[in-house]
Amino acid sequence: MWGRADYMDKIVVRGGTPLQGEIVVSGAKNAALPLLFATLLTDEECRLSQVPKLVDIHTTLRLLRDLGVQYDWLNEHEVALSSRLVRCFEAPYELVKTMRASFLTLGPLLARFGRARVSTPGGCAIGARPVNIHLDGMQRLGASIRLRQGYVEAEASKLRGAYLPLEFPSVGATENLLMAATLAEGVTIIDNAAQEPEIVDLALLLNAMGARISGAGTSRITIEGVTSLHGANHVVIPDRVEAGTFLTAAAITSGDIFVRGARADHLAALLQTFAETGVHFSVQEDGIRVTGNRRPCGVNITTLPYPGFPTDLQAQLMAMLSLGVGHSTITETIFENRFMHAQELVRLGADIHVQGNIATIHGVTYLTGAPVMATDLRASVSLLLAGLAAQGETEVSRVYHLDRGYERIEEKLSRIGARIRRVKGS
Ligand code: UD1
Repeated sequence: MWGRADYMDKIVVRGGTPLQGEIVVSGAKNAALPLLFATLLTDEECRLSQVPKLVDIHTTLRLLRDLGVQYDWLNEHEVALSSRLVRCFEAPYELVKTMRASFLTLGPLLARFGRARVSTPGGCAIGARPVNIHLDGMQRLGASIRLRQGYVEAEASKLRGAYLPLEFPSVGATENLLMAATLAEGVTIIDNAAQEPEIVDLALLLNAMGARISGAGTSRITIEGVTSLHGANHVVIPDRVEAGTFLTAAAITSGDIFVRGARADHLAALLQTFAETGVHFSVQEDGIRVTGNRRPCGVNITTLPYPGFPTDLQAQLMAMLSLGVGHSTITETIFENRFMHAQELVRLGADIHVQGNIATIHGVTYLTGAPVMATDLRASVSLLLAGLAAQGETEVSRVYHLDRGYERIEEKLSRIGARIRRVKGS
């Protein structure tokens, strides 16, 4: 069942087969989550299509349902939502701790109903991940914020437009504040805003709902508040992280994969890295093809906010560079503690040394299958990629992380030749 990740499930891959064929990208998880929360801003029906069937989407729908939102799947990937009867304004710890994006209930609830009680996310495997930028922005919009018993309690009889300079271009804070500002009185300017394609997608839906937003996709977003929003239909953008993962799968297995739906404009930093490492790719109208016919050269990568190299593709690239020629470095600047996959890759024979936020990778000529453990969403897929390239069998445990962000990944990969199977936990 798509909404339930089994804690004990494992994925077993037998490596060494070049992957070949076509793979279709699903809708973007990181776009769909804020879009689903945005429907809280109106009492009219909204329809979202290309919504991926993932555990995080299931968690979001569960949270929305608990708030009083009614929803219906119209077909495999299209959902209709109505927030007419919202009667609860709380996102509980049990859900927020499993999915940090639940914190995105704060902006819409506060803007439409004047109050919200949302658990703080707490720590997670990839670092502390505080919410101070969200809260500072909400206060500038006129909300009173109280932190009590692990919850943020926010109130505002009416939000007022304000100048919101962000100390860091946080994706989640930009989304939360963008949603809140749509119904504020007057003009809001978000400066040093995140520029990710998912922000642009959110602004597109909000504008289709009657909001007045300009500048999304740049570092300065201007929002002219309106008194109410209405229903709208929207198609979620393709998942650039999933697309980048499949493109990397072609490179690491010396395969030949056409990734239908991959958008070069969303993947410029990855393609630039491919160009520097000598990985051959061609950009086509409806997707991108990678032909991995030789070991990639070493390269130095630094993760940065968009349009820089995405932290969500860092682990996958580390797997690829483990099999590169010469040495590479990866500097992680977005999250602390996001190198936990490195030690697992070492178990497969990679030569990686981590010091602080810099990983140095000396390319080796082959990896060997071994049991490894997934520690977070992107780490788990990097182990899968390494396993697909390794000699012998790799068993990845704790794959419930994978189910949060990759739709039917075993099925998609096996269609292009991967020898991969899920083993039910015991
Ligand atoms: C989103 C993505 C995630 C991606 C990340 C960075 C979703 C659902 N998730 O996460 O996949 O890895 O962007 O591209 O879209 N920070 C603060 N204070 C805050 C908010 C953030 O210090 O109030 C820090 C975080 O601790 C982190 C950095 O800013 O070190 C980036 O966080 P942010 O951009 O907010 O990431 P998310 O929105 O959580």
